[in-house]
Amino acid sequence: QGKQFFDNHGRPIEYVRLAVTDRCNLRCFYCMPEEGIRYLPKKELLTYEEMLRLVGIMAGFGVKKVRLTGGEPFVRKDLMYFIKKLNEIPGIEGIHITTNGVLTLPHIEEFKAAGIKSVNLSMDTLDRERFHSITRRDELPAVMETFHALLDQGIETKINVVVMDGQNTDDIVPLAMLAKAHKVDVRFIEEMPFNGEGSHYPVLVWTHAKIHQELVRAFPSLSRRVDEAASTSATYGIDGFKGSVGIIAAFTRSFCGTCNRIRMTAQGTLKTCLYDDGVLDLRALLRNGANDAEISAALLKAFGQRAKNGFEAEARRAKGHAVSESMSTIGG
Ligand code: GTP
Ligand code: 5AD
Ligand code: SF4
Repeated sequence: QGKQFFDNHGRPIEYVRLAVTDRCNLRCFYCMPEEGIRYLPKKELLTYEEMLRLVGIMAGFGVKKVRLTGGEPFVRKDLMYFIKKLNEIPGIEGIHITTNGVLTLPHIEEFKAAGIKSVNLSMDTLDRERFHSITRRDELPAVMETFHALLDQGIETKINVVVMDGQNTDDIVPLAMLAKAHKVDVRFIEEMPFNGEGSHYPVLVWTHAKIHQELVRAFPSLSRRVDEAASTSATYGIDGFKGSVGIIAAFTRSFCGTCNRIRMTAQGTLKTCLYDDGVLDLRALLRNGANDAEISAALLKAFGQRAKNGFEAEARRAKGHAVSESMSTIGG
């Protein structure tokens, strides 16, 4: 332990995002078509044991932070068991989860003891009808219950809002207001073309600059805070607010220079950038009997060939692999 690996651009690799499933119980239109995506058969998913082994190896290179994503993590059976095991890996300092909040509530009491340090909750609107039309499911009440339970349990919580032209831009101000009464960080995200079908905008209208303008208009005291170097989010305080608001330039990709994260998809493909189409088949290595040294060598090689930024990663994609997969298979 205590080792730190730096990629070919001098960035430490400290953070792995694990998609534990490609399945989801919502159908947010910016992520998946209505009929869903072709889900992987169970034997194609990494088992918990396989993921634990890989995270153990990565911890040896300096990975300290694990975020569970999906699909929806809580759709996978026995997730809390897996989290407790992950938290026991030497070098792992905390587990974080990105969830839609629909199936989360019954587990929240256990979160702290399981090593869960923070939760990012997707919530694109506070209006029940609009929530239904965006996610194609009538689940806003369940998500709100989860939100309040997280705060009651004192768990660090961020709200993720994907800003969609013509859909929820009227929700920006009401959602930001959640941070007035509550100690929560409400982050507004540029929509990316990962809806399973490719971009539906000729050009992105709601860029980080436009979101910023809208926030300044409503909250003139908006003031930039200092973020951690590797943060995707630019955080702002507002006078009289307990929490904060943030903007994530996910499409503009302005934060690549300090990116410390890698990803594993549910079928065990390593991605060294959200915008690449997978650089290493870890499942094949595992299932062909590779030993830890061989897996380590393959990982280090991949970390040493990272794209400089999301644009380079996108340009390197294989022909025919346009940026059109579902966010549910990438893990966000
Ligand atoms: P923490 O910094 O650990 O709180 O994670 P996060 O806020 O980056 O993760 P979360 O899963 O909540 O994702 C929020 C939004 O940021 C989603 O739209 C993600 O797709 C996007 N995002 C996360 N990581 C990256 C990244 O490396 N590049 C880009 N372009 N977007 C990212
Ligand atoms: N563009 C931007 N963000 C997205 N998310 C899902 N799909 C997209 C998209 N097309 C976000 C959700 C979720 C996080 C993991 O990714 O808000 O919270
Ligand atoms: Fe890193 Fe790629 Fe994301 Fe940029 S787009 S921050 S390089 S993962």
